[in-house]
Amino acid sequence: MREYKKLAPRQIALWTSFLILFGWGLSGCGLGSTSAAMRGQQLFQNCVPCHQVDGSGNPQVGAPNIAGMKAWYVQAQLQKFRAGTRGMHFSDVEGMRMRPMALSLITDGDVTAVSAYVETLPPVKHAPTLTGDAHAGDNQFHLVCASCHGTNGEGNADVKAPRLAGVDDWYLATQLRKFKAGIRGNNSKDIEGRLMRPMARILTDEDAIRNVMAYLDTLKP
Ligand code: HEC
Ligand code: HEC
Repeated sequence: MREYKKLAPRQIALWTSFLILFGWGLSGCGLGSTSAAMRGQQLFQNCVPCHQVDGSGNPQVGAPNIAGMKAWYVQAQLQKFRAGTRGMHFSDVEGMRMRPMALSLITDGDVTAVSAYVETLPPVKHAPTLTGDAHAGDNQFHLVCASCHGTNGEGNADVKAPRLAGVDDWYLATQLRKFKAGIRGNNSKDIEGRLMRPMARILTDEDAIRNVMAYLDTLKP
């Protein structure tokens, strides 16, 4: 007679719970993330009129290139627009254009889903629109900006500083002017914006802004 190796009850219990957990994990998480991704893509349709289907933006309406932007940053900005800590200043024409769009996202889940979708869009790099002294800009950037935005402008989630490499120069220059004028980063609840404001003020004139932009234009996203 053949001898069958018997499984001890403890082993059976172990395998059963493993199979249940594994199966549950596959169906539960798999389904959850797929529907969240679809929801993100669906919500993004509301963004297409200004940011384009590939997320590369439209300078004509001042909408930045957000393709491949990290979800943590997109999410943070959308929440700021929703809360009115960004895009509320009466001189912030573009911010006021964006704010109602962020408000069209009803739940925090919507914000998370659309932000995750934006991160999946492949980065698009546009040709420079500004000219400046890239060498001087390189020096200035590494003296002041790189500590937060990274040596290659790649951004740093730890200090909540976004990627600047590959983002359009006209948009970044506009934001620097807004920070300097207190049109952005002036709200007492905007912790990161308030951190960034004095940094923008180090760039004392348009030449200084253009030089940093000329340097950033040499970097890849
Ligand atoms: C009516 C045009 C319009 C629509 C539609 C729109 N946006 Fe915007 N968006 C803008 C403009 C203009 C700005 C620039 C605001 C500024 O200069 O401060 C902006 C800025 C942003 C920023 C900030 C980027 C940064 O680098 O700080 C994010 C993120 C963003 N939009 C995401 C979205 C998402 C997601 C949607 C869809 C739910 C959306 N936008 C719909 C016009 C629009
Ligand atoms: C102390 C850290 C720190 C330093 C130094 C710093 N930044 Fe920032 N920067 C930030 C943070 C944080 C944000 C995000 C602000 C927000 O959430 O609204 C930011 C945002 C920006 C933005 C807006 C980007 C966007 O997508 O809208 C620009 C442009 C920018 N920084 C440029 C610079 C430049 C140029 C320098 C150097 C002169 C610099 N920063 C130095 C922390 C810093």
